[in-house]
This record gives sequence, structure tokens and C-alpha cells, in this order.
Amino acid sequence: LFTNVIFYRSINSTQMAAQKQVSDGMTHGTLVVADEQTNGKGRLGRTWHSEKDSGVWMSLIVKPDIAFEQAPQLTLLTAVSVTRAIEKLSKVNVTIKWPNDLLINGKKVCGILTEMQADTDRLLSVIIGIGLNVNHKQFSDPLTDIATSLFIETGKTYDRSQLIGGILDEFTKLYQLYLDDGFAIIKPLWEAHASSTGKKISARTATTVIEGIALGIDNEGVLLLEDEAGKVHKIYSADIDLH
Ligand code: BTN
Repeated sequence: LFTNVIFYRSINSTQMAAQKQVSDGMTHGTLVVADEQTNGKGRLGRTWHSEKDSGVWMSLIVKPDIAFEQAPQLTLLTAVSVTRAIEKLSKVNVTIKWPNDLLINGKKVCGILTEMQADTDRLLSVIIGIGLNVNHKQFSDPLTDIATSLFIETGKTYDRSQLIGGILDEFTKLYQLYLDDGFAIIKPLWEAHASSTGKKISARTATTVIEGIALGIDNEGVLLLEDEAGKVHKIYSADIDLH
């Protein structure tokens, strides 16, 4: 799948570089990777700290033949791919916090940012940004309590290209399964790592905060949340706090 690789020692953001590739006509199967990002982007306009040589900072460009509404499923698929790659190489247990945070011992080790390009009703391409903290020795405030790295959790340093290879292998496998058989094949793999199912959470959406028990995801990858009155809410996009 990823035969076209664009590598930077330092760049503002692999996500922005990938966007430029897409507007220049490069779409399916391109990988943009950097040793350092000077302006890494997180979800909801946040900054993503991407120090030199300490993590995997990369963006994948794919053009799946799926409906616009299904694109978020690729975030879940990517979360499973990265989880598997980490577990294979480091033997550490990774959980997924819906939709896109990977946690080790409750702290965030990886974030995924999925951006779509579409015209009125057609999905044109998807850029999936992956930020994985690998060899950081420590984080400074205010990240200390919420962020972690593979080194901090296992006491070992990792070869970043081996991790990239592992992630791309897993992604390529799952992506093919997904295109052949749909999200139903990914759902149980995602659920096996879900950190929130059955737990009390609050979901902060753009307009409101809903508290309740996370029931899991539905067949589309949408989060189901049951509030105290027993009403089940479908959450398409939100920040989740685990209680
Ligand atoms: C999040 O907020 O959890 C998502 C973080 C995504 C970070 C990655 S690092 C590679 C790619 N380039 C960016 O600028 N952001 C994503």
C-alpha cells in the first residue's frame, strides 16, 4: 500500500504536507513521515508536541471507496493497527479511548487525527495522522500527568522505523479486510481494547456534556452512551472523560 514515502528531517506538520500532496494530485497510498514537527496539530485545534527523533510522526493518505459518513471508521481501524504494532514490539498492554487515543496505564501514548477531503457528496481522500510517543524520557508540565511514551512505560528505547513498519503492516492488513468485509470485521478487534466500555464517562460534544455509561460502539463505529434516565445517545464526535 504505502509505496510512496515522503520523508522530512523537520517539517511544520506531516498532516499539512500530506494536504499539499493531495492538492497536488497525489492521493492513494502515500506516507509522509518526519523526524521532527515544528507545528504538530492535534484534534480540535490543539498543538501536538513532536520533538526531534523522539516519536513516530506520520500521515497516511488513502482513498477508500466508502461513503463520507464511514470515514471515522478509519480512525478506529488505525487505532487497532497502532495498538497491535505496539503490543507486538513492546509486549505492553494498550487500551483505546474512543475514538482515537491510545493509552498505557491510563496515560496517552498515541493520538490519531483523521481529516477528510470531500466534494458535495463524495469522499475524495482521507489523511490519517499518527503521533506516537516513543523514546521521550519525560514530559514537562502540564503533560506529565496525562502523557507517556513507550520508553517511560517499558524502560526500553525503540527503533522508530521498526514501529513504522509494524504499524503499516497491521494497517495494510486491516484496511484490506475492511474494504472486503466492512467495519463488522474491525469492530470486535476494537472492542477487545476499549477502555471505556461499561464505565461511567462524560462526553463533551460541541454543544453539550452528556454523562452516562459507555455501552460500546455500534456497527458504524458510533459511540453509544446511556444516560441516567436510560436514554441511549449516539455520539459522533466528542472528547471523553473516564470516571
Ligand atoms: C490528537 O489530538 O490526539 C491527535 C494527534 C495527532 C498527531 C499527529 S503527529 C503526525 C500528524 N501530523 C500532525 O500535525 N498531527 C498528526
